[in-house]
Amino acid sequence: MLVLGIETSCDETSAAVFRDKMLVSNIVYSQSVHREYGGVVPELASRAHIRRIIPVVDEAISEAGVSLADIDIIGATVGPGLVGSLLVGLTFAKTLCFALDIPFVGVNHIEAHIFSSLIYEDILTPALALVVSGGHTELHLIPEFGVYHLLGRTRDDAAGECLDKTSKFLGLGYPGGPVIDKIAREGDPNRFSFPRAMLESGDLDFSFSGIKTSVIDFFTSSGEDFVRSNLPDILAGVQEAVVDSLVEKLKQAHKIYPVSDIIVVGGVAANSRLREKLAHFCERRGVKAHIPPVSLCTDNAAMVARLAIFLFERNGSSPLSISAVPGLDIIQKGD
Ligand SMILES: Nc1ncnc2c1ncn2[C@@H]1O[C@H](COP(=O)(O)OP(=O)(O)OP(=O)(O)O)[C@@H](O)[C@H]1O
Ligand SMILES: [Mg+2]
Repeated sequence: MLVLGIETSCDETSAAVFRDKMLVSNIVYSQSVHREYGGVVPELASRAHIRRIIPVVDEAISEAGVSLADIDIIGATVGPGLVGSLLVGLTFAKTLCFALDIPFVGVNHIEAHIFSSLIYEDILTPALALVVSGGHTELHLIPEFGVYHLLGRTRDDAAGECLDKTSKFLGLGYPGGPVIDKIAREGDPNRFSFPRAMLESGDLDFSFSGIKTSVIDFFTSSGEDFVRSNLPDILAGVQEAVVDSLVEKLKQAHKIYPVSDIIVVGGVAANSRLREKLAHFCERRGVKAHIPPVSLCTDNAAMVARLAIFLFERNGSSPLSISAVPGLDIIQKGD
């Protein structure tokens, strides 16, 4: 069975091919047009998807060594995401399915991030999953794949959004996560301390907007020259606050749900300090950590195709009448 996945929920145009359960191509085009604005401009994202969708799908098909006529199923992201961006990939996928007379499978982008952990390995359930991306910070208990129990989520900014806003404020560009990760490697994470919010809140929710505010206050009180000359230590401190908040809530969740497998996915899962601290925590607790390779943490169509295979085997195809749902939530246990 050959499955084509298409992902266009935000600012990556991506297409991937699976042969049965093996990933054979994954092309990701990251739009550079947003860099000068310090964040994604929705209309520019839609237009860039329109320009790139055909070349990206062509490249994924040819790298897989197949032709479009060989594809058996197409999966594409339905939501959550930017409506204009979602519509490009979704309409393209549905049109191809109609023309080729093959099944279409609509997928949830956050569930697809969770499935990025299943591309190269099998994972036992029950498991805990931390989704940390540009728009989401969510902790789920997964009794079995396809069934999710939301344990906690951010009350304000997502972890990636906090790093992106910090980077934008300091004039370091977009996306902020990779830049901060790189510069912070040269810094001392303990020299400056930034807030770790809600650690005593008694629930499993997160909050990251205080970090950004405290960076702004720090900048105002210390002055630009001081910030510029101590950037690695400051960024290491900011990154440490984000990472500690994530790992601490994961520890609290694991105390309540002592599962043997923990999944961490989404763009922020590419962070080297988070990967290091997670590995340490999981080793101490005797838990298996499942974190995808860095290239599969940020948006990609491989995870979309992987989830489409699972959904097709379980539920069959989706109707072609399905439309983009920008605020789509992951299906909860009992929904
Ligand atoms: N090495 C890294 N360290 C920390 N953050 C990173 C790293 N690499 C990428 N990120 C962050 O990951 C985010 C992008 O991840 P992703 O592509 O999964 O998010 P998104 O698709 O925009 O949002 P969502 O999945 O919630 O809709 C950005 O906020 C970016 O700064
Ligand atoms: Mg994403």
